Amino acid sequence: MQSFFSLVQARRSTRKYKQEPIPEDVIKKLQQVLLMSPASKRSNPWEFIFVDDQELLASLAACKPHGASFVKDAPLAVVVIADPTKSDVWVEDTSIASIYVQLAAEDLGLGSCWVQVRKRTHASGVMSSEVVKALLQIPSNFEVESIISIGYKNESRSEFDLEKLQYDKLHTNMYVTK
Ligand SMILES: Cc1cc2nc3c(=O)[nH]c(=O)nc-3n(C[C@H](O)[C@H](O)[C@H](O)COP(=O)(O)O)c2cc1C
Repeated sequence: MQSFFSLVQARRSTRKYKQEPIPEDVIKKLQQVLLMSPASKRSNPWEFIFVDDQELLASLAACKPHGASFVKDAPLAVVVIADPTKSDVWVEDTSIASIYVQLAAEDLGLGSCWVQVRKRTHASGVMSSEVVKALLQIPSNFEVESIISIGYKNESRSEFDLEKLQYDKLHTNMYVTK
């Protein structure tokens, strides 16, 4: 098992996937990780829709004009939604869940990419979240944060170079203009 540090160092957004199904036991682990995500006051405002239907994946890929097209070629997409009446910090809660499932995917030998849905717009001018809600029959009281595309990697990306991190963004005690 690799360390958390090397997992983080190796994780890069993956947008090209092999046409290889993800085994049920691996999907179960992704689901369990999502349900263990931290949430403010344990309010758990989130819910998760696992999409593996090819037609639905192709429709999700068109939820916005840019930065989502690769979803149609992924074997799996997790749509992260929340009921805002359950938490005033549902954006944080769903964001944490989104990165949790990305890190879990990496740990399980999969690649993933976050597709931003909240505040994005479909080509028609309708909000992307409304398009996704209509497509997946999501009740109107929910908001859509993200779609996380997941699959076995069909591209290799280099890990972070520790020498090249933006160390100038770090401060100690006082903010120092650099
Ligand atoms: C909040 C958020 C929204 C993102 N939205 C998109 C997106 O809509 N489409 C996409 O292709 N990548 C998206 N990404 C992935 C970023 O482009 C990617 O993380 C960034 O370029 C750094 O690359 P890396 O993940 O390989 O380190 C998003 C990432 C985050 C954290």
